Amino acid sequence: MTKKRIVSGMRPTGRLHLGNLFGALANWKNLQDDYDCFFFVADWHALTSDYADTKDLRAYVKEMLIDWLSVGLSRDKATMFIQSHVKEHAELFVLLSTISPLPWLERNPTYKEQKAQIANRDLSTYGFLGYPVLQAADIIIYKADRVPVGIDQLPHVELTREIARRFNHFYGSLFPIPDPILTNIPKLLGIDGRKMSKSYNNALYLSDKPADIASKVSQMVTDPQRARRKDPGDPNVCNVFAFHKLFSKAETIQRVDAECRAAEIGCVECKKIMAERLAAFLAPIREKREYYENHQEEVADILREGTEKARAVARETMEEVRSAMKI
Ligand code: TRP
Ligand code: SF4
Repeated sequence: MTKKRIVSGMRPTGRLHLGNLFGALANWKNLQDDYDCFFFVADWHALTSDYADTKDLRAYVKEMLIDWLSVGLSRDKATMFIQSHVKEHAELFVLLSTISPLPWLERNPTYKEQKAQIANRDLSTYGFLGYPVLQAADIIIYKADRVPVGIDQLPHVELTREIARRFNHFYGSLFPIPDPILTNIPKLLGIDGRKMSKSYNNALYLSDKPADIASKVSQMVTDPQRARRKDPGDPNVCNVFAFHKLFSKAETIQRVDAECRAAEIGCVECKKIMAERLAAFLAPIREKREYYENHQEEVADILREGTEKARAVARETMEEVRSAMKI
């Protein structure tokens, strides 16, 4: 039986942190065993919001590929490439633009929210409004069956479905209607208790060394009610405990849970245990990262292979699209 196809992209924003890892990448890694996966670095999408300052973009694209390989995405299982290297996405984007009603784009909740929230950039641009149409092109050009995304991207996949249906209605059934796969994301906050984000300067990176980890973890915000060592704590409201749940052994988790509530363990010790587990978790990832940093030609080769595979599929779809649209 041929495997179902998955397509997903990630915007290059620099080195990945733990929030990114558990937000999408961990899921991608699991999916590559059961699906025919196409994963790409969405550099055109990065431009739709960060168009004014592009000096780091190329470096970020490279960092991202290295991070992907370091966590275990494999060239034998997944096709990895860079969006802008497959120009067919742009052609399909133009064609889909002609059939995408403006109100569909304007009522997109993610669009409205980001436009209101992101105050330091002018997002009243054509490119930003049209971003989901480009995303639709990214997805259907490979005739994806499934699209793994976080909840914030769900409206975009919904739009993709609507656009694909509209295409099929006008020009004949060419595209499957892709289903989203919602990623179950454990809630890992940054060391200051806000959402983990590069721009907040509160993130733990996949590339962090044990010393960075120890220092960052020691600064982590804990249960705010637990002011003194003798006060009992509530692990359920503590970000350190959320990390324990991901990285520590079951017995440690149980012990921390009980001893925190009974004020039998101090936060300093609790953090130390967690930092060690986290460092152990990240060690093999960091090692692989170093390997790929020193074997850039291998990374380039993986990319070349992925681009060729993606292009071949995209070209074939575009032949069908042009023929269906009488272009
Ligand atoms: N918009 C996605 C994000 O910001 C990235 C993306 C671009 C994507 N094209 C895609 C995700 C296609 C899934 C499928 O995270
Ligand atoms: Fe959080 Fe651990 Fe301190 Fe409890 S002991 S409040 S779980 S850091």
